[in-house]
Amino acid sequence: MHSSDSASSDVPRPPGVRLSVNGRSHTVEVEPAAPLLFVLRNDLALNGPKYGCGLGECGACTVLVDGVAARACVMPVRGVIGREVTTLEGLGDVACPGPTQQAFIECQAAQCGYCLNGMIMMIEALLRRQPAPDEARIRQELRHNLCRCGTHVEILQAARRAVALHAQARETACAKRSGQ
Ligand code: FES
Ligand code: FES
Repeated sequence: MHSSDSASSDVPRPPGVRLSVNGRSHTVEVEPAAPLLFVLRNDLALNGPKYGCGLGECGACTVLVDGVAARACVMPVRGVIGREVTTLEGLGDVACPGPTQQAFIECQAAQCGYCLNGMIMMIEALLRRQPAPDEARIRQELRHNLCRCGTHVEILQAARRAVALHAQARETACAKRSGQ
């Protein structure tokens, strides 16, 4: 037992990689080439992003990097050093969901739910840069995200609801600012 303990302590540890995720700073001992998805799920216990294809093709692992949607399964963790990563957990929680999350809850846009992380993060990214997309723009944004259960109708409904809820949130924020 002692020998295996000392053998494992002789194994060089990977250098620490410093990350900012959901507004918090972390240092993780991983290889810089490790996929961001594995680091988020295994080291930071952020399980919103899902492992689907592992090839950048299904969208289940989507996160935001500096506000832009990115596929965490094919992004090495070194690629986000000095940048801000946002996961599904960073948009809100059960007690206080963000507008995009709330829209998907209201529309019950899930069957198994596995694809929803990607759908929500894609819509969130879209609405951050284009607050009032039309149906065609929403469809274009989601065209590379796969849903094996076929809940596309409900997902599109949720995306339209997200547009409305984000508009409401902006109006409320505006009213609060002008009331100050
Ligand atoms: S798991 Fe990343 S795109 Fe499929
Ligand atoms: S709800 Fe099951 S994969 Fe989309």
